[in-house]
Amino acid sequence: MSEPRIPFNRPALAGRELEYISDAITRGHLSGDGHYSRACHSVLEEILPGSRVLLTTSCTHALELAALLLRINPGDEVIVPSFTFVSTINAFVLRGARPVFVDVRRDTLNMDERQLTQRISGRTRAIVPVHYAGVGCEMDEILRIARDAGAAVIEDNAHGLFGTYRGRPLGTMGQMATLSFHETKNLSCGEGGALVINDADLVGRAEILREKGTNRSRFFRGEIDRYSWVDLGSSYLPSDLLAAYLFGQLEAREKIQARRREIWERYATELADWAARLGAGLPTVPAHCGHPYHLFYLMLPDLERRQALIRHLDERGIHAVFHYLPLHLSEMGRQFGGRKGDCPVSEDVSDRLLRLPFYYDLSESNQQRVIEALRRF
Ligand SMILES: Cc1ncc(COP(=O)(O)O)c(C=O)c1O
Repeated sequence: MSEPRIPFNRPALAGRELEYISDAITRGHLSGDGHYSRACHSVLEEILPGSRVLLTTSCTHALELAALLLRINPGDEVIVPSFTFVSTINAFVLRGARPVFVDVRRDTLNMDERQLTQRISGRTRAIVPVHYAGVGCEMDEILRIARDAGAAVIEDNAHGLFGTYRGRPLGTMGQMATLSFHETKNLSCGEGGALVINDADLVGRAEILREKGTNRSRFFRGEIDRYSWVDLGSSYLPSDLLAAYLFGQLEAREKIQARRREIWERYATELADWAARLGAGLPTVPAHCGHPYHLFYLMLPDLERRQALIRHLDERGIHAVFHYLPLHLSEMGRQFGGRKGDCPVSEDVSDRLLRLPFYYDLSESNQQRVIEALRRF
């Protein structure tokens, strides 16, 4: 009999998520900003000291909120790495911004800060570093360049809750940051995210934009006696049912992180010799970065071997996936002038990267199956 397939990802059920969902229903407040949303806000604010956190329906929506808060207008330029998920830039393009793509570093696959200065122009409004795999970008340099250019820094921290850069939590350094609680992330509620605000002046307007352009949050706090339409906005609040699931995950965060650390370290240790023989790379984590064990990737020597390895694993019931296709070469990226050769490292690593199955309840025996299958390649 063949063994069950090992998926790439499985959402975690690690604590009291189901109990809290049931409690949220009993409480009779299923829309946004109920008991569990407030509970998530306070735990996230403990994890990110000094930041104000607002749950959103996704990291994509948190990025859209950030773009609205920055009053991004047509013609403004926003600098992003080419090697990232589409939402990192789409949120700004929705406001009319022109994307400016910068290449990534070969070691961490993060925005190459050494190439930023040449991408800055009089129209640069924001720089959006992505902490790839939750490994911190070179924030000291990025913040300095942004300050000199008068541009905002928005950390796309979809991967990096619990990561640190020179002792500082990822998400607390830019003017704003965004989090994802999509089911592939360390902590999830299916679809969800958060906007992290590190500039107190933006908090009031963020509440308004997130609540359909109304001052309803102030009304609910009893600060005004009616609420009305006061600004742009949309509906970015997740249901309290989702927040209840997320709160269960936040409460179980130490257990989840400990397990993910074990899985990450087992891959790194057990695959080191095999990877060296094959000429494949494993993730690089600089000494000044603490990473949250978000994903584990291999960097194969070339596209042919990456594709052959995907097939080899698939034949053995193991699902491994790749990402990202360089944004400057996408259909949209090309419309903004992207050409082959603009970001050579992104183009190269996109062909060679492979992500291994990695989730909270990946059992030791199943992980060993993945490791053995790799060794037989
Ligand atoms: C770097 C990055 N930013 C943003 C997102 C969007 O996250 P969400 O699915 O929560 O909208 C993702 C999704 O995986 C991502 O990898």
